[in-house]
Amino acid sequence: MSAITSLTNHQVRLAQRPSGTPGRECWNFTEEAVGEPAAGGVLVKTLALSLDPAMRGWMNEGKSYIPPVGIGEVMRAGGIGKVVASANPKFAVGDLVSAALGVQEYCLLPEDQVKRSGMFKIDLRAGSMTQWMNVLGMPGMTGYFGLMDVGMPKPGETVVVSGAAGAVGQTVGQLAKIKGCRVVGIAGGQAKCDWVVNELGFDACIDYKAGNVKAGLKEHCPKGVDIYFDNVGGDILDDVLARIGRGARIIICGAISQYNNTTPVQGPKNYLSLLVNRARMEGIVVFDYADRYPVAVAEMAGYLKDGRMKSKEDIVEGLETFPEALIKLFTGANFGKLVLKVAEA
Ligand SMILES: NC(=O)c1ccc[n+]([C@@H]2O[C@H](COP(=O)([O-])OP(=O)(O)OC[C@H]3O[C@@H](n4cnc5c(N)ncnc54)[C@H](OP(=O)(O)O)[C@@H]3O)[C@@H](O)[C@H]2O)c1
Repeated sequence: MSAITSLTNHQVRLAQRPSGTPGRECWNFTEEAVGEPAAGGVLVKTLALSLDPAMRGWMNEGKSYIPPVGIGEVMRAGGIGKVVASANPKFAVGDLVSAALGVQEYCLLPEDQVKRSGMFKIDLRAGSMTQWMNVLGMPGMTGYFGLMDVGMPKPGETVVVSGAAGAVGQTVGQLAKIKGCRVVGIAGGQAKCDWVVNELGFDACIDYKAGNVKAGLKEHCPKGVDIYFDNVGGDILDDVLARIGRGARIIICGAISQYNNTTPVQGPKNYLSLLVNRARMEGIVVFDYADRYPVAVAEMAGYLKDGRMKSKEDIVEGLETFPEALIKLFTGANFGKLVLKVAEA
């Protein structure tokens, strides 16, 4: 038996589809022997996994921008790992890579999956491992392309972003400041609001858990909202729609307030504000921009280096904590990009 095949892989598999918030009953913990990579494949040891609100959608049956995770399959997750065996000339043992690893300790990627998953080496000179899962990673790319390509910010414009202290939100707000905009965040709780204003330089932040979002928008966006980057949907989207200015752009990035609904998704009531204001609302899926990630990463790494961009991650540990850790995203218990540390680098 080789050193590789004597290893055991612990995994988290989808046991059943959830109704509402996914509890432990949705997951099965399994183990199996680790396999050797075939020609063109690699074996990656998971170091850290990205916990994302989108995971909740992947647990549902039905059509989306990506197929659902099947019952019995290892839960889908992006992450960073170390190559421990390679039969692919592009990757060497010891390389740190970003890939779709799944919620498991080892990921055996056959050649076609190495290609399809867009696996790439990360460069720790550009940012730390967890920064590569945050502002330099998928959430950062979402914020970057959503704001820049759909929002098209101009200096002096007012940008509002919900989920402001989260992974996507912190990127959007800081980037909008760098581009010369006035930035108003919306977040849950005083600590998150204080952090985005005092540490990230937002102009203001509205604590939606404390009360009246409408009044906060009126106070902090006296000339109306030019760009709204929506991470949460629901009532907050309606409140912002009521405050948009002429020619406003609304980026539909996510609607986390709706993901655990057991009733139909709440649609916007104030959509006629788009008509009155000659405004538009557009959805974005980050993977459509994959070809341009390197350019955005280089720009963002520059901001990290010169101190104009900060990156806050919330790190939880241990594969066995996955079910409870995931729920933090929906209660707001995470403060920054939620990362599950699986093993030491
Ligand atoms: N379209 C894409 O390609 C794409 C890619 C990545 C992410 N997304 C979306 O972007 C959004 C943010 O994702 P993320 O990874 O950056 O997560 P995150 O903001 O780091 O974490 C989720 C946050 O959502 C907030 N939240 C939870 N329930 C809420 C509710 N009912 N009302 C208002 N806020 C609520 C909580 O913050 P508070 O404490 O402030 O409530 C929580 O911390 C999600 O909707 C996600 O699906 C989309």
